[in-house]
Amino acid sequence: MILSIDQGTTGTTAFIFDSSGALVGRSYSEIPNYYPEPGWVEQDAEEIWRVTQRVCAAALQRAGIRAADIKAVGITNQRETTVLWDRHTGEPVHRAIVWQCRRSADICEKFAAEGKSEWLREHSGLLLDAYFSASKLLWMFREQPDLLARARRGELCFGTIDSWLIWRMSGARAHLTDHSNASRTLLYNLEQQNWDPELLALFECPESILPEIRPSAGHFTDTDPQAFVGIGAPICGVAGDQQAALFGQGCTHPGDIKNTYGTGCFMLAYAGDKRPEPPRGLLATIACDAHGAPAYAVEGSVFTAGSAIQWLRDEMGLIQQAVDSEIIAQSIPHTRGVYLVPAFSGLGAPHWNPSARGTLCGLSRGAGRAEVVRATLESIAYQSNELVRLMEEALGVDITHMRVDGGACANNFLMQFQADISALRVERPRQVESTAIGAALLAGIGSGIWHFHRLPECLQEIERDFMPGMPAVKRDSLVMGWERAVAACKTF
Ligand code: G3P
Repeated sequence: MILSIDQGTTGTTAFIFDSSGALVGRSYSEIPNYYPEPGWVEQDAEEIWRVTQRVCAAALQRAGIRAADIKAVGITNQRETTVLWDRHTGEPVHRAIVWQCRRSADICEKFAAEGKSEWLREHSGLLLDAYFSASKLLWMFREQPDLLARARRGELCFGTIDSWLIWRMSGARAHLTDHSNASRTLLYNLEQQNWDPELLALFECPESILPEIRPSAGHFTDTDPQAFVGIGAPICGVAGDQQAALFGQGCTHPGDIKNTYGTGCFMLAYAGDKRPEPPRGLLATIACDAHGAPAYAVEGSVFTAGSAIQWLRDEMGLIQQAVDSEIIAQSIPHTRGVYLVPAFSGLGAPHWNPSARGTLCGLSRGAGRAEVVRATLESIAYQSNELVRLMEEALGVDITHMRVDGGACANNFLMQFQADISALRVERPRQVESTAIGAALLAGIGSGIWHFHRLPECLQEIERDFMPGMPAVKRDSLVMGWERAVAACKTF
């Protein structure tokens, strides 16, 4: 049995797969996000750890197995989210600053004004944006100088969520991460595939606080049964959630592409062992090759996607549950010209505008609940479409098909609209939890339970293809309307 933990922005899911690839147990629990100021997002790392333990214990119970039956553990996680903890007590010294949080935008703007952007891109493949961990860490150090002093004395550990979980699961013995997570920190050199001393100096980050970087498949450490719900098993697979999904979808040939519809939307194209030079707006990042070793990928990151559906439910009260959105959207033929740009945390790829804010426009007297709901779903597809067009530029080919996964890809209206607006075939797998599958596969390969040549086929079967059917003229005019709406949200 393989335990795969998917620690995401909105919750943690534990999955248990048997050696044939069958899913035998699963448990999910939400974690709270805190929004202390507009544009700020925080989580409590202790809460993440408690929830993770709880869902793992519940998944064991649902699978009807003992802790001793777990032979390998895989971890996949929301990336960039920054945790700082005390090396001796193991306690977090600050709330975790979530990837969506914009609080360090000023730090980034200042570095950009000093002309650091291009240099940073060359070193890291990333952009100077508050999305990545480094400016979040520097923000903590500037707000609380005692933390910097303690970090310099070697008293603190920094990590993304993977490192934090490994630390706790190993009973505070192992401070580790993998290349895919490290490549999201803005502290990692994309060519040398290691921490970059010049980036560390820029962000005033003492080297002693950093975890050791390992390939995504292989023996990281063993979990401590006393610390981790009775499970004493090797952790053999670790990857950031988007890279895990890419691996889980079997995208290990250059040009293979997937889009994950989670809290945000993340489109990744596998690039192989040569560093890609994507056009402005896209990122170069580290993914996993067929063996789980570091390889390159091109990424487009959209900050708000599935969470816009949550917003319809929780803040607007327009739907009771996510599935309602599909029925409501399908009940009308179009949005009557209504567009929603869900720039709740600014805009990510390809605009990278931290001060843009959510905008609803094109309202006429006849527009109501159904139009707003439909416009929200369409916004997810329009944002992904911007990524498709840039990816085509990056790869130098027309993209004719794309694998999809993540919670919101269960929405048939959204998938059909994506196929129509992007004029491509959308391939949805039977098991849409590609992130967890990726982590399980990495753990299976890393522990020797599975061989990369003979992975369980059931994990990557296609359930449904959505074929494009919209005339080009209509597509172009809808996309033009979207572009006007995006322009409006930037100037608000
Ligand atoms: O980069 C952020 C990403 O890893 C978050 O993923 O699944 O929590 O939306 P998710």
